[in-house]
Amino acid sequence: MTLTTPPELMPNPLRDPQDRRMPRIAGPCGLVIFGVTGDLSRKKLMPAVYDLAQRGLLPPGFSLVGFARRDWADQDFAEIVHDAVREHSRTPFREEVWKQLAKGFRFVPGDFADDVAFSNLRDTIEALDRERGTAGNHAFYLSIPPRFFPDVVGQLKQHGLADDSASSWRRVVVEKPFGHDLQSARELNQIVSEVFAPESVFRIDHYLGKETVQNIMALRFANGLFEPVWNANYVDHVQITMAEDIGIGGRAGYYDGIGAARDVIQNHLLQLMALVAMEEPISFEAQSLRLEKQKVLQSVKRPDRLDLCTSRGQYVAGWAGGEKVRGFLEEEDIPNTSTTETFAAIKLAIDTRRWAGVPFYLRHGKRLGRRVTEVAVIFKRAPHLPFTETATEELGENALVIRVQPDEGVTVRFGSKVPGTAMEIRDVNMDFAYGGAFVESSPEAYERLILDVLLGDPPLFPQHEEVELSWKILDPIIDYWAEHEKPEPYPAGTWGPQSSVDMLARDGRNWRRP
Ligand code: BG6
Repeated sequence: MTLTTPPELMPNPLRDPQDRRMPRIAGPCGLVIFGVTGDLSRKKLMPAVYDLAQRGLLPPGFSLVGFARRDWADQDFAEIVHDAVREHSRTPFREEVWKQLAKGFRFVPGDFADDVAFSNLRDTIEALDRERGTAGNHAFYLSIPPRFFPDVVGQLKQHGLADDSASSWRRVVVEKPFGHDLQSARELNQIVSEVFAPESVFRIDHYLGKETVQNIMALRFANGLFEPVWNANYVDHVQITMAEDIGIGGRAGYYDGIGAARDVIQNHLLQLMALVAMEEPISFEAQSLRLEKQKVLQSVKRPDRLDLCTSRGQYVAGWAGGEKVRGFLEEEDIPNTSTTETFAAIKLAIDTRRWAGVPFYLRHGKRLGRRVTEVAVIFKRAPHLPFTETATEELGENALVIRVQPDEGVTVRFGSKVPGTAMEIRDVNMDFAYGGAFVESSPEAYERLILDVLLGDPPLFPQHEEVELSWKILDPIIDYWAEHEKPEPYPAGTWGPQSSVDMLARDGRNWRRP
């Protein structure tokens, strides 16, 4: 007997392009990375490109062009990529994949003010179009500090590199931080939008590329179970935590003067909050999704008492992973007078019927007890408990915890009878773990996002309006801190400053200990 594939499962190019069951493979194209010698490029972008190639999601003629102030030939660049891939890629190294991919590597030396270098870049791209069939489709990834954006986008424009044609595309990818306040975000946007149309600008907030973050939408809108209780009638409060055990490492130049709120709360945590709080979008098309997220950000009420609704900390010497570690002010290249915060927590209210009276507590810090990101929706207690008081002494609130990383999954916490002759109720957890339910490991956020750039698929990229709204929430807080608050010290390896604990204690609540 021969088994044939049913016609509905046969690859069908005419099938609805929105059909996400089909493998999404990028058409002919190339990627140019500015800032190719940086950490992000080595640890995330190069490995992601390899992982995509290894999964068969890049076109055969795909090209990767590095641009940097280094005296490298193509072969030197290939070696750098090779080492980065060997060290950081998610999928196994396969020589045949590598060989095919490396044929498309080119390197253009030069700095951002160098006209000749950008003409060389144009020649390189045109040669790739001819030799490898990249068909004029190129994405420019600005993995560089924002102060260089004007030079680079200006050069791209001047050398005709930014021009779409009827049959080919040019896109630009911008990494956060999108400015350091509302004003600078607007200026940055102005610079980019003078050269690229809005649909050609892809702003990366890599949290949106994480599987577990996208799963917030699946959990809420694919199930009947959760959405009926996802509102102020049932939810007591929401805690969003992104804790890191690492310090600032070698990133002093970027981090000092930026701090925890601008680095992470303005983007990753407000995006997480928007996904948790938004109404059901009419579709998962970019426009509908962004509209719902924007409505949430627009409805955030500025806290009245910034002294009581925010907390700001800076780590001092302590412990991490069983080793003694230094404080922020002793880190390399950090002035010992720095008032940059390495921990920030804020309490926000969303002024809508769904969320009236439900605080959203957001916190992020470096050198905390462990690395964990989670969204915890804490429910109100049952309105009535038909048990003796002693039976429920150990009963907490029901909670639904979306474990973003590292232990990816979802936990539901509820009360259960302790086996025995007496009625005693205690909290237990029901767990879903990605590792247990699915065979394949989750792709890295950058794999998904780079592929989406190459496909021109925008839902997972925040639009400028969201960036502006996020700064509008954060600017008054940062201004208040600059005038009134010095960061409060907390020892490395703890869960942040006392003021963060007090912020919840005043509301009769506690932070979860993830
Ligand atoms: C980046 C921040 O956006 O996210 C870093 O700039 C932070 O400071 C990093 O360490 C954390 O990313 P992840 O994916 O490891 O949680």
